Amino acid sequence: MLEWFGLLHPLVVHFPIALLSVLALSECFRFSQPSTPRRDHRYGGLIIVVLSSLASIAFGLINATHSAGQHEAELLDDHRIAGYAAGLLSCIALFLLGRAIAGAPVIYLRLYQVVLFCAVLVVSICGHLGGELVYGKGYLWPSATSELEIQEQAPLVQDLGIQVSYKRDIQPILANRCYKCHGSKKQKGDLRLDQRATAFLGGESGPTTIVPYNPQMSLLYTLCADPEFPDEIMPPKGDPLTVEQCELIKMWIAQGAAWPSEE
Ligand code: HEC
Repeated sequence: MLEWFGLLHPLVVHFPIALLSVLALSECFRFSQPSTPRRDHRYGGLIIVVLSSLASIAFGLINATHSAGQHEAELLDDHRIAGYAAGLLSCIALFLLGRAIAGAPVIYLRLYQVVLFCAVLVVSICGHLGGELVYGKGYLWPSATSELEIQEQAPLVQDLGIQVSYKRDIQPILANRCYKCHGSKKQKGDLRLDQRATAFLGGESGPTTIVPYNPQMSLLYTLCADPEFPDEIMPPKGDPLTVEQCELIKMWIAQGAAWPSEE
């Protein structure tokens, strides 16, 4: 249930982003006029910004605990801090605008405008970091350089052991190449790989499909990469898994075969 609220995060964050932008835009057209309107629609807008920011932060925190290990920790930290900062700036903006409307000196209005623009800036950075969390770093500019970087990073992934994610790296391989015979419809060799419990239970050979921390003992790795007999190779039909795919499976198991429990 809590997890479901976490999923609301990407939805709710768009309220403060959109409203802040609209408020900032409306300030641009107002800059020259000395304005302390008595019935100020900006105040209501800002209250919604603050409430939706707080909700976004709460949902985001829930989201982060439920997707632990799936995201780059540093990026997630930056995203979180930017989120807090955006929330805080909106609160400050609300306070300043409140004072301005209540008749405080015009400096409050000017400060409000400054803080508002800072909030838009911070919320944009925060949104961008969020995008990178979801779509991967450099998603905005998939240029030649980022391809180069990816190529340079590829050996790093293997050598330095960057955390392999089940959802990002392993599940797609299993889904594309294995579910056909080890999924909900068929369970060749008594093995079902699309559920956590049955995958760890293993098939005919017992619980040796995935032996956490020990890829050499895990049939999931050995049968794909290095079967004892060539005719045992998995998948038995079609191309064998690529070296990279085998390496990912190996590393994933070596790192403990973390499989988020909701799968
Ligand atoms: C075309 C069907 C097919 C596909 C696709 C397939 N397998 Fe299999 N798999 C089999 C059959 C058949 C067996 C039983 C072989 C035997 O007992 O000799 C088996 C057995 C296994 C076993 C041994 C289970 C045990 O405990 O005895 C593992 C592990 C396994 N497969 C992993 C995989 C993985 C990983 C993939 C995907 C990369 C995959 N298989 C794709 C047909 C398939």
